[in-house]
Amino acid sequence: MRRLGLKDNVLAGRTAVVTGGGQGIGREICLALAGLGAAVVIAELSAEDGLATETLVARTGGRALFIQTDMSSEESVTVLGAKAREAFGAPDILVNNAILCPVKPVTEMETELWDRVLAVNLRGAFLTVKAFLPDMLAAGRGIIVNLVSTDAMPGLSAYIASKEGLVGFTRSLALEVGDRGVRVVALGPGMVDTPGLRRAGVVLAPVLGLTAEEFFKVSIHPAYEGLMPAADAGLATAYLVAELADEYHGEVVDGYTVLERAGYLKPPVEVLAEAVNPSRLPPEAAPATRRPATTPSGLPEAGSGA
Ligand SMILES: NC(=O)c1ccc[n+]([C@@H]2O[C@H](COP(=O)([O-])OP(=O)(O)OC[C@H]3O[C@@H](n4cnc5c(N)ncnc54)[C@H](O)[C@@H]3O)[C@@H](O)[C@H]2O)c1
Repeated sequence: MRRLGLKDNVLAGRTAVVTGGGQGIGREICLALAGLGAAVVIAELSAEDGLATETLVARTGGRALFIQTDMSSEESVTVLGAKAREAFGAPDILVNNAILCPVKPVTEMETELWDRVLAVNLRGAFLTVKAFLPDMLAAGRGIIVNLVSTDAMPGLSAYIASKEGLVGFTRSLALEVGDRGVRVVALGPGMVDTPGLRRAGVVLAPVLGLTAEEFFKVSIHPAYEGLMPAADAGLATAYLVAELADEYHGEVVDGYTVLERAGYLKPPVEVLAEAVNPSRLPPEAAPATRRPATTPSGLPEAGSGA
């Protein structure tokens, strides 16, 4: 956190709800927000994964509570709202992160599956906003971060449709809440190494004419050799919440930009300039590429800078 210039307790007294916090980016968002002092509610369908995240947060000294939630069920999200308030008080940070992401051509996609993807990814975000926005407006403070993805790929029609819908929802909601103290932002984290992406990548790679190995080596930002580690996407989200909340409202921001703004990543032009002419590197400069060491759980190792 200190590499991001953030104090450990910058989110003390705040309560966050992270949907889909049982693995991947969601788990790392929980760890990063708790690391900054927020009490974190892990709203996750899988009891095993949700409890595992709760344990990981507790091990790092943070406060977290797993509440088993099905994002597609209004009843389940209503229970989430009541239990979250009871445990930690009214949440003022909401991260809509949970997804279903099947890879299937439209001609093979069952209508029920299409409906379920939209229900979890898009309707679920509407349900959590309905559950938590009134308290945020009453307090005159809050931030809603909707995780999005804007790169269309074959086989991802339901997923991308839900995510484009979430971008529109973000824009419209931002206009609706106006300047009443609640911020709404869409975050496209980047190409991030998660169990979900690993699963989808195996099916997507041949469709894109790549081997799975080539697919997982795709690097969107030159500071990374391949995919962004999920821990960095967690840091980007936490930095957005803690430091940049006042700067975005109704916009789509990407994780690389957030990490560049935090001074954690060098902008592509600098990375490339140094690759061409390493003598331009000041002696104390960090290496141009970044792949922080992580523990098997995905937690950064002490001293890894993450
Ligand atoms: N990984 C990437 O490269 C990437 C790229 C762009 C955007 N994103 C966005 O980041 C977010 C996280 O992606 P990820 O790759 O970590 O996903 P993932 O598939 O690894 O994890 C998704 C989590 O959501 C949970 N979930 C699924 N259905 C649920 C339900 N009905 N109720 C509650 N929880 C449910 C899963 O159990 C899982 O823990 C998503 O919103 C995704 O669109 C990811």
